[in-house]
Amino acid sequence: MFQLKQDLELTAEHQGLVIGLFEKPEKFSGNLASLDQAFEGQLTKLVKSGDISAKLKSISKVHTLGKIGPKRIWIIGLGKEKEFTFDKLRQAFGKLFKELKNNKQEETAIYLDTFLSEKHDASDAAYALSEAFALATYQFEGYRQKSNEPEKRLETLTVYSQAAAEEVEASLSIGYAFGKGTNSARTLVNTPGNMLTATDMANYATELAAKYNFELEILDKAEIEKLGMGAFLAVNQGSAEPPKMIVLKYQGKDEWKDVIGLVGKGITFDTGGYSIKTKAGIVGMKTDMGGAAAVLGAMEILGEIRPEQNVVAVIPSTDNMISGNAFKPDDVITSMNGKTIEVLNTDAEGRLVLADAVTYAKHHGANYIVDVATLTGGVITALGVNTTGAMTNHEPLYEQVLEAAMEAGEQMWQLPLFESEKERVRNSKVADLNNSPGSEGHAIVAGAFIGEFAEETPWVHLDIAGTATSTKEYDLGPAGATGVMTRTLALFVERFEPIEK
Ligand code: BES
Ligand code: MN
Ligand code: ZN
Repeated sequence: MFQLKQDLELTAEHQGLVIGLFEKPEKFSGNLASLDQAFEGQLTKLVKSGDISAKLKSISKVHTLGKIGPKRIWIIGLGKEKEFTFDKLRQAFGKLFKELKNNKQEETAIYLDTFLSEKHDASDAAYALSEAFALATYQFEGYRQKSNEPEKRLETLTVYSQAAAEEVEASLSIGYAFGKGTNSARTLVNTPGNMLTATDMANYATELAAKYNFELEILDKAEIEKLGMGAFLAVNQGSAEPPKMIVLKYQGKDEWKDVIGLVGKGITFDTGGYSIKTKAGIVGMKTDMGGAAAVLGAMEILGEIRPEQNVVAVIPSTDNMISGNAFKPDDVITSMNGKTIEVLNTDAEGRLVLADAVTYAKHHGANYIVDVATLTGGVITALGVNTTGAMTNHEPLYEQVLEAAMEAGEQMWQLPLFESEKERVRNSKVADLNNSPGSEGHAIVAGAFIGEFAEETPWVHLDIAGTATSTKEYDLGPAGATGVMTRTLALFVERFEPIEK
């Protein structure tokens, strides 16, 4: 995968050599002087003639015609150094790796030290490189008969850096773990509902627990009934597939305190139930377990990096189906914490399963809760498809989540939870709550509903209905599942500071 070397060897044979180039002035000095010399100053001339561009994310390819070991030089523009950010660095690497992959390159050398600046040292660059490498070269295999044919894959990267090898190596493997965990989440989301049932998801979690030594609890239907998770059970009622409540525990501290609960919506397919979706709206609803995937992906990363934190992951998993047994509008159900709920819309099922999952996370000692869910079309109306919607009952906790999101390069924006919208959730003639108080601001009322179950526990809700999938490819991945919030959650846990009450 990664091979680390100190001194740039221009004679070493590679399919390519990658360098980064800042704009204005574009200099082949210092590190790059010997490279330019090998071409009698031609690289400098190619910049002048405009054949090599240092504009942000522009990629220039120069054939070396046998003058040096690598067959081609790939120059990736980094833009103006003053305006450079970590996010741009990661995206530039992503775009580059996609280009290499499209050019059927199987290996390449990268001169890491050309990507350093005042803001970013070799560790930063190595992290960005390896995370981008995993993310940008991801591909969902799919189920075409022909996809079994061997395809050329970019597999080996030789990284040249003068910086301390231990640090660079550590950053390479951490960045790669973040990328890989995200890719696992993407694959879960891309997998169709017939191939990823609640039972399959539980089996996947079981394997993860075995690999990383997590404590595991999988509640089956009888146990879910015994615990009185009436909201979760109602959603499963019409299904031929049994529900699973999946719990993974990672203990990184001596004592089970300051516990972070990560709760992920795990609806393996959402038909809408009797409040049925349209034939256009139902397509793609295999992705309704994007929250669960992000939580499982984050747990994989945590299993790799093993921070000194305590985490309990809780995933309520079922599909939302129709049958003679299915729950219906007007039904009144009783959640695990005793609150009764009037069902006004069976398509507002995510908040129902999350209600019991949040309660259960508290039973497992969660002192802080972050839930992630493909919860509402409303969040797409409000924020579009590039920004995750957040709601909270605790600003300091939200600040930590937001900080992690910014570092991960995942856009997030907060929506308000005012008393007026909480009131709408509490407005029922027959029950404590209703699950669908109307479409005005429905991302917000969905969040408010879950907040009724978080109660006093500091809690952040993340609505990823818009961001869990992408219709277009982008620098760090192909169209399809994005694995959004996987890296944010893992970073949030890694950096988490308990909050004084
Ligand atoms: N899973 C959907 C939300 C969704 C919509 C996810 C589009 C991904 C893309 C959720 O269960 C749902 O159906 N929400 C309803 C809520 C409504 C009935 C209050 C919605 O957004 O329309
Ligand atoms: Mn729904
Ligand atoms: Zn749903």
